[in-house]
Amino acid sequence: MTTTLEPNIHPDSQREVEILAAESEIYHPSPEVVAQALIPNYMDLRTEALADVESYWDARAQEMVDWFEPYEKVLDDSGKPFYKWFVGGKTNIAYNALDRHAKTWRKNKLAMIWESEDGEHRTYSFFRLWQEVNKFANVLKSMGVKKGDTVTIYMGRVPELPMAMLATAKIGAIHSVVYGGFSEQSLASRIEDAQSKVLVTCDGAWLRGKTVNLKEIVDEAVRRSPVVQSVIVLKRTGQPVTMEQGRDYWWHDLMSLPIASPKCESEPMDAEDPLFILYTSGTTGKPKGVLHTIGGYQVYIATTLQYVFDLKDEDRYWCAADPGWITGHSYIVYAPLILGATSFMYEGAPDYPYPNRWWQLVEKYGITILYTAPTAIRGLMRFGDAWATRHDLSSLRLLGSVGEPINPEAWRWYHRVIGKEQCPIMDTWWQTETGGFMITPTPVVPLKPGSGTLPFTGIEADVVREDGTSCGPNEDGYLVLKKPWPGMARTVWGDPERYIQQYWAEFAKQGWYFSGDSARKDDDGYFWIIGRMDDVLKVSGYRLGTAEVESALVSHKLVSEAAVIGVPDELKGNVIYAFCILNSGVTGNGDLADELKRHVRTEVGPIAVPAKIEFVDSLPKTRSGKIMRRLLKAQVLGQPIGDTSTLAD
Ligand code: PRX
Repeated sequence: MTTTLEPNIHPDSQREVEILAAESEIYHPSPEVVAQALIPNYMDLRTEALADVESYWDARAQEMVDWFEPYEKVLDDSGKPFYKWFVGGKTNIAYNALDRHAKTWRKNKLAMIWESEDGEHRTYSFFRLWQEVNKFANVLKSMGVKKGDTVTIYMGRVPELPMAMLATAKIGAIHSVVYGGFSEQSLASRIEDAQSKVLVTCDGAWLRGKTVNLKEIVDEAVRRSPVVQSVIVLKRTGQPVTMEQGRDYWWHDLMSLPIASPKCESEPMDAEDPLFILYTSGTTGKPKGVLHTIGGYQVYIATTLQYVFDLKDEDRYWCAADPGWITGHSYIVYAPLILGATSFMYEGAPDYPYPNRWWQLVEKYGITILYTAPTAIRGLMRFGDAWATRHDLSSLRLLGSVGEPINPEAWRWYHRVIGKEQCPIMDTWWQTETGGFMITPTPVVPLKPGSGTLPFTGIEADVVREDGTSCGPNEDGYLVLKKPWPGMARTVWGDPERYIQQYWAEFAKQGWYFSGDSARKDDDGYFWIIGRMDDVLKVSGYRLGTAEVESALVSHKLVSEAAVIGVPDELKGNVIYAFCILNSGVTGNGDLADELKRHVRTEVGPIAVPAKIEFVDSLPKTRSGKIMRRLLKAQVLGQPIGDTSTLAD
């Protein structure tokens, strides 16, 4: 597969203007920040690490986690691009996250603080979390889950979600967490692909004071994908649900049985055994199951979190993502626990019941590090400064951003109003596939608003032209990773060929990983992400394939063809515009557009609903029949349509 270089933002667009304006705006770290940094010599370490990547990761693997049996080799590249890390090592990530802390002074330390949408709060010490996870691990065993089996988890943002993940990992099974905002069809296809016999869910989830019927969605998904034999249901909302005898069990019933003993040994796992599958959108067809393995992943996420967020025992760290995405997997669940940190988790929406909810939480719990997405920052910024300034936010010392390019205006607001110009902002560029941060500052790196600054230690990133030569300063090109790293995805679940085609085919000759993003480097070598170059959209930081939305649209009986594009939006980064050709004789109108939106909602989920649906008679295509979305986009944005020599008609 090759991608035509088509940065998704036109050169004279907003991002270009922003980058040019912010390139020379430098924020140097304050002497206080540098003085307290865990890794003050980070810049030297970057040089050292690149000189000998294997020794560098060997040292991190010794330092960050425990091994039941030592590995024989740091990196095996004999089967590239199927790299192996810490070959022969035996370990378990749940052991590193919980068991080992439960035996030290951290036993009594808070591992997790949680607040529900309606203000209930719960805390878990490392000891208590360890026991709960052990109990649930025994429950899973009693349901017949064995090493190598997959367990699908579909829940709201509750403490039992991380518990279910950790319990699965503890017994050597593989979790596949499906974000609670996905519809029955998305859930069914993920269950089917992962072949999970056990599903863990909730009766419902709270969102903005209303309940979402998770169990109902599960019932429909299981009807469509009958591979599931047992469903474990956590009672969260108490709403009425149907429990199918012999298939559905209440979490609390199972956890009170004698089989749910609070003792459970962590299964010794091979470093390269699978840890989880996480479905994410690609260029074509159905979402792919990105597979991460245990050994390298745990080392990579612990190192990145410690270095970038400078995480210390006295911190109260809040990653406001959903555990159902990679940010949650790596930086809510696994890395903070491996580092023995105290994490905060909040169930609901940032502006519920009022736009000060987050700032109230920061004040109430004394949060020191906040990590969120530009779309949330922009969403809260829109309500004005007063909602934030009436709270004491002085506990904050570091801020973070992830998921899409942050526009400098939002960066500056975050810096000034939330961070009171005292908190460095860690703009971390990475992907589901990279496992952890790739291009990111640390607290000692000078910042520019809107730039992820420099590649992390041991990471060799570059912006290159189609022929692989490096781009000059301020020239847009393909963002590639030139060396393997321990946190990298290992394959696409059940489809190794797709793994090669998707990530390693574009620069096969050089053996580089292609991210799918376009970027540029400025005169100081700082990286600026432009956006996706493929048919992947980022909507409110969520990742969606145009193909997913298009196939949902054409699955409606009145639609014969559809094309979907992302259009820049101030709040969401991008919104979806859909162009539909209807069956002959059918006329489009507002009611049909609404019906199609509802249809997309049930086929994929609310995040995929187009902001606008336009009915058209034809779509611009190449002679080989590929839809030229670039032309549709240029038309919507009123931009020059550029080269049309490949246009069929
Ligand atoms: O386009 C980049 C964008 O998000 C994509 C990865 O999406 P996903 O796999 O859902 O992971 C999101 C959380 C890690 C990337 O290809 N992206 C992510 N972080 C940034 C970003 N774009 C610009 N700046 C970022 N900090």
